[in-house]
Amino acid sequence: MPEALLDIHPVAGRIGAEVRNVRLSGELDPATFAAIRAALLRHKVLFFRGQQHLDDAGQEAFARLWGELVAHPTVPVRDGTGYLLELDSEHGGRANSWHTDVTFDLAYPQASILRAVVIPAAGGDTVWANTAQAYLDLPEPLRQLADRLWALHTNEYDYASRFNSTAAGLKRYREIFTSTVYETEHPVVRVHPESGERTLVLGHFVKKLLDYPTADSDHLLQLLASYVTRLENTVRWRWSVGDVAIWDNRATQHYAINDYGDQHRVVRRVTVAGDVPVSVDGRASVSRNVRRQAAGTAPAQEPAAQQAVAS
Ligand SMILES: [Fe+2]
Repeated sequence: MPEALLDIHPVAGRIGAEVRNVRLSGELDPATFAAIRAALLRHKVLFFRGQQHLDDAGQEAFARLWGELVAHPTVPVRDGTGYLLELDSEHGGRANSWHTDVTFDLAYPQASILRAVVIPAAGGDTVWANTAQAYLDLPEPLRQLADRLWALHTNEYDYASRFNSTAAGLKRYREIFTSTVYETEHPVVRVHPESGERTLVLGHFVKKLLDYPTADSDHLLQLLASYVTRLENTVRWRWSVGDVAIWDNRATQHYAINDYGDQHRVVRRVTVAGDVPVSVDGRASVSRNVRRQAAGTAPAQEPAAQQAVAS
């Protein structure tokens, strides 16, 4: 097992492990990197403390080891970087809603790499959930139903009902985040291309289940989500500055807890290009629509209000 090379300490019983005594960089030796990749498949999210030596360029260089990088589809990258999304609590919203990153896109990212830059004295933890375990926890008949469900994901939905924000903040957020509207049909259960595990593809970008009336869709989504977010399937991380978390975005959801009031929190994220999900019966996800919004609502270049919820 390549993982034997690593000093791994599981954090929760079913998801999450801290890896100690590794200095992350673009020059990581191939054996160590292979071990980290294998550990990620197993643990779904890995934590590395004490990575203060990383700057934006170093974070991007390390991320490049995982594959091709992708910028957020609509939110401008941080100045001076190629792909980096800065999530700054002082520029608006906070991603306090369960989601998988960018699932409104067809081949959404396979992994996200998040670095803690400014962390509140208390609060601002992130929680991840294991969507492979959630699938296994479904009663057999529900698993069979889920295997056949498809859902429409979009970056255009009723933000106001889900996020606390001022009206001006919401307007600005909507202008940037939905400057291009994406609509993608994903199977509710995808087969993980590396592990072969079945994982649930849900979270806050889901608009509705295909072929179901909205009310029924809401009930079913709530039922399935309850298996994802049950505490047994989660791990919660108390951040320190310099921590790096990497998650398998094909097998997890996450939630940034907005409990830190007006304390400052800055984290920076790089995402690695993913693959088009495939259902248990071998059908690939379908991009239904990519639509530029009318002129006048193009993304601004200054730091984006509300961009924290854009993740
Ligand atoms: Fe996110």
